[in-house]
Amino acid sequence: MIRDEIYKFFADYIFQYSGMVYSPTDYYRLESRLKDLVTILSVENVESVFQMYKTNITPDMKAVLINVSTNNETYFFRDVKPFKVFSTNIIPELLVRVTGNTQLNVWSAASSSGQEAFSMLMSAQNTLGDSGSSRLSLFASDISTNALNKAKKGLYNGLDVQRGLPITFLMKHFTQVENENWQINSNILSRVKFFEFNLLKDKFPKEMYHVIFCRNVLIYQDKDNKNKILNNVYDALTDGGYMFLGNGESLIGIDTSFERVTIDGYTFYKKEKKMKKTIK
Ligand SMILES: C[S@@+](CC[C@H](N)C(=O)[O-])C[C@H]1O[C@@H](n2cnc3c(N)ncnc32)[C@H](O)[C@@H]1O
Repeated sequence: MIRDEIYKFFADYIFQYSGMVYSPTDYYRLESRLKDLVTILSVENVESVFQMYKTNITPDMKAVLINVSTNNETYFFRDVKPFKVFSTNIIPELLVRVTGNTQLNVWSAASSSGQEAFSMLMSAQNTLGDSGSSRLSLFASDISTNALNKAKKGLYNGLDVQRGLPITFLMKHFTQVENENWQINSNILSRVKFFEFNLLKDKFPKEMYHVIFCRNVLIYQDKDNKNKILNNVYDALTDGGYMFLGNGESLIGIDTSFERVTIDGYTFYKKEKKMKKTIK
């Protein structure tokens, strides 16, 4: 039986650092995360983990804790429509609107193990060809170093490539390697710049990105942190830039200046410079 003091200590720490909420009703999920730490750190029990973390949290210990406490669920072309709208509507519009040789900066802001960013690039290439998609600069980040390490390798198992990835894309962009794994080809892998970024704590650049995917990460945040992150995402977009959220996420009750846009029944958001408003 894990003491409440231990649950509270880790829930508070995870919340302060990442914004992820573990409320008392989620303690059973935290329990299995803490048991993972027992194995990873090769200590006797959860009490020993607590004693270690209570004494001092080194950067490595922090990374281990964040790696076990994040939910990195993702798959290629998740929900399909965002990638269709991105490649057939948004990027073609931006290629015309943003003139000259300016690169279009696109950011997958909680990219987990990379499937989202690679899906963006593969769908853009499929629609626009190599020359159209060459103006895209892709960035992808996450708070989890484990997820990022997998993303940077671009190496996926059989189950990963069976989830959402059309067979034509698998054949075109991946090579089968040992142990029934699939390696994404270097012309795709080398196009995405992966980096560690904590949406709650790190400094966002100003007006750098034309499109930001911030999908299925705000569901773990409370309202104040959602507000903070979304306003930072707004400031990080260029004027007229777009933000995509996850299917279950919206701006309801959030104080922002985003305009809602709907194409083919799919809703996403556009930065329009004007006064803040609350979407009801
Ligand atoms: C459920 S996955 C979503 C992945 C992808 N965006 C998708 O929709 O398939 C959520 C990701 O958010 C990351 N995450 C959680 N809190 C974060 C934070 N404060 N800053 C950056 N990433 C965070 C987790 O590590 C995890 O990889």
